[in-house]
Amino acid sequence: MTAKPKVWVSRPLFPDVLARLAEHFDVEAEAVEHRHAADELRKKLAGVDAAVVGLADRVDGAVLEGNQRLKVLANLGVGYNNLDLDALTRAGILASNTPEVLTESVADFAWALMLAAGRRVGAAERWLRAGHWPGSNMRFDDWLGLDIHGRTLGILGMGRIGQGIARRAFGFDMRVLYHNRSRLPEAMERECHATLVRKDELLRQSDFLVLVLPFTPENRHAIGAPELAQMKRSAVLVNVARGGIVDDAALAAALREGRLAAAGLDVFEGEPSVHPDLLSLDNVVLSPHIASASEETRRAMANLAVDNVIAAMGFGESAGKPPTPLNPAVMNRWATSKA
Ligand code: 8YV
Repeated sequence: MTAKPKVWVSRPLFPDVLARLAEHFDVEAEAVEHRHAADELRKKLAGVDAAVVGLADRVDGAVLEGNQRLKVLANLGVGYNNLDLDALTRAGILASNTPEVLTESVADFAWALMLAAGRRVGAAERWLRAGHWPGSNMRFDDWLGLDIHGRTLGILGMGRIGQGIARRAFGFDMRVLYHNRSRLPEAMERECHATLVRKDELLRQSDFLVLVLPFTPENRHAIGAPELAQMKRSAVLVNVARGGIVDDAALAAALREGRLAAAGLDVFEGEPSVHPDLLSLDNVVLSPHIASASEETRRAMANLAVDNVIAAMGFGESAGKPPTPLNPAVMNRWATSKA
């Protein structure tokens, strides 16, 4: 009997999802969360046929150097700025991500941050828990926040998640503007009740500006001091995309100086560290990169990553046809080079 191929899973995953892998593979799964240094990652990936990795695992050319064995790398996320896709393709390694399955949960969470930041939910909760309510003589005009309904929602990056956020705005009677590299098909614009505008117009007109664009080198600091200066002082900024799209130091300064009303942030430059100025501000709601973290969605993401590994490695009903590959053409080369 030939030995099963080997798969490494870099983060603890749901046991039933791991069991699906174990039907076909010899599985080594990390039991505790741990950030793998480049050298550690290089050694792990050199000793397996397939791997499931998380966003904290940076897989680049140096990590892949000399790797003769790895065929499939499944990323636990729709964003894959942690992967050097060109280096993976050069090495003949199939990469996959987890699109679609998290769209609605991330759109829900963007709304959670909009509502919480606009209506000061985080600060009010901290105040209540600190025991300030009894004896405070809270005034009728204390804790005034910003209405969400009837306002202008701006969406920067109008992919699937942006569209999900836009569709929800109908119930809040909001005007929806968006800016994107390309215009949506008209039918989609109608469904989203959304109008394409230039980026400067989006910045100037939005009462709530939500960022959902991919993190590419061009999008680094897409929102920095000059962009913040164009926004309304009463505006709320929400980032559920990636840290680094916003210049967090510039954002903290704008929030501190009252040049922006509030922010809701799920992602940070250099996370898991958070800029200390943001931590000390009361007009920002912070969450630890959990926009996709609902029970159903994290399970769906894990299952989709595993579906990709199983199918790409030639097992199961979809053998040879991974559902969400990023560089499917590499599979054509396997017949000769990695059989
Ligand atoms: C993370 C995400 O994958 O899909 C993405 O791109 O940023 C998230 O869904 C998730 O938080 C696990 O780190």
